[in-house]
Amino acid sequence: MKKPKNHILVIFGASGDLTYRKLVPAVYDLHQQNLLPENFAILGLGRTELSDEEFRLKMKAGIKSFALQKTEDESVLNTYLDKLFYYSFNTKEKEEYAGFKGRLLELDQQCNTDHNFIFYLATPPSMYEIIPAYLSAFEFNDESTGFKRLIVEKPFGYNLETAQKLNKKLLHCFKEEQIYRIDHYLGKETVQNLLVTRFSNGIFEPLWNRNYIDHVEITSSESVSVGSRGGYYEGSGALRDMVQNHLLLLAGLVAMEPPALIDSTNIRNEIAKVFHSFRPLKEEDVHKQVIRGQYTSSHVKGKEVKGYREEEGVHPESRTETFVAMKTYIDNWRWADVPFYIRTGKALPTRVTEIVIHFKSTPHHLFANDENLCKQQNQLVIRIQPDEGLLLKFGMKVPGAGFKAQNVNMDFHYSDLAETYLPSAYERLLLDCMLGDSTLYHRGDAVEAAWKYVDPILKAWEKDPSIPVHGYPAGSWGPDVSDNLIEGQTQTWRYPCKNLSDDGKYCEL
Ligand code: BG6
Repeated sequence: MKKPKNHILVIFGASGDLTYRKLVPAVYDLHQQNLLPENFAILGLGRTELSDEEFRLKMKAGIKSFALQKTEDESVLNTYLDKLFYYSFNTKEKEEYAGFKGRLLELDQQCNTDHNFIFYLATPPSMYEIIPAYLSAFEFNDESTGFKRLIVEKPFGYNLETAQKLNKKLLHCFKEEQIYRIDHYLGKETVQNLLVTRFSNGIFEPLWNRNYIDHVEITSSESVSVGSRGGYYEGSGALRDMVQNHLLLLAGLVAMEPPALIDSTNIRNEIAKVFHSFRPLKEEDVHKQVIRGQYTSSHVKGKEVKGYREEEGVHPESRTETFVAMKTYIDNWRWADVPFYIRTGKALPTRVTEIVIHFKSTPHHLFANDENLCKQQNQLVIRIQPDEGLLLKFGMKVPGAGFKAQNVNMDFHYSDLAETYLPSAYERLLLDCMLGDSTLYHRGDAVEAAWKYVDPILKAWEKDPSIPVHGYPAGSWGPDVSDNLIEGQTQTWRYPCKNLSDDGKYCEL
């Protein structure tokens, strides 16, 4: 396998949780698979004063808890830890960048990393404009002597206006090809498999359009509540936190046209085309097409769960949504008038992300059957997590007299494969950036198009207090009214269980 060029990964915000739980463990997993270049180092940056040794010790604990490639051998772990360094400075102060530059260039010489640097912004979003500006002031955007790449974490903007402003500022300092806007959903193996399922099989693509598909459901439910993240979540809400990025991306991958090539330009062009085709929502229609909810206190599995308004960092009269269910359309030749239903929430019964393709039912119902119409439809369930796999539901004859049909399951589980190592999203994405491949990163225009679509919803919610925030008990599937979004009297959401093949409103007690 192709290895990245020698380089240093510079992490801004290295004393934070993301570095500890995700980034350093993910790079360790790459190290264990021999995917790092010969000469490589991580330089962690932050305001907290830490020596290299203290930083390594802290990261060691993170690796032990969160890396996928486990090892009992301390010497193996230490070989990796030797590549970790730390430098403390105030990243808000321009003058302090001179000292940082000195340390980075010194490390570059010491490690023979050929002046190639990746800068990862694992900081609060308030720093996303400041750090790149100072990096460019100190010529860390100049690629004449080696590559310089910038990885920006979500949230990318707070609404359309701020996203546009951020893009503009970043593009003032770095070229689009140098900017890697991360969405960890794109790093998930099963999300990438959507492309393979669609475009490597002859049987799905002919049916993949408005002639055969009735509607599409995209669900990402989480059983955890907001917990200690109340401070952040209060200013975000489910629409910004999950829909604008991860779930619209899944819709994009389900709906996109086959790309001419599997490369960054072609795949990202097709995703952007879908984003540009979302039927714009009028502010006055938001209450009809988007349901918002907030979890209230409840007993889940014998334990008391706090309501959102009781969480730390949350206003006692907060109207921030912890649940969203919405109906959207993609106005193009393939999808005209096919509803895409999107749903996400915290404190729901289980943690599941999946896409359900509901095919149209047969034009004539030959077989007497007491099941409702919804169940007669063929469904293809693409399970992103957990119990990753594919499930096809189709009608079979019930053995015995007469002709009675019933839906049965045909399923594939990733866990059945001999080689089941599923790399973490950060592992895949960091490796791609190291290789200079931005296919699985968002392009600026697509991010703006996604914000453009959700902006009227944010505005309507802000302006119109009569749009309800429905309460739902923690541990339930959200407000009942979200069922009314789905057209057709017999249609409802699929209520998925932890394991792919089962569904039903409350399958985990
Ligand atoms: C993050 C959100 O982007 O995605 C979190 O900020 C959410 O609120 C998380 O919990 C979900 O990611 P995953 O990979 O667990 O589905």
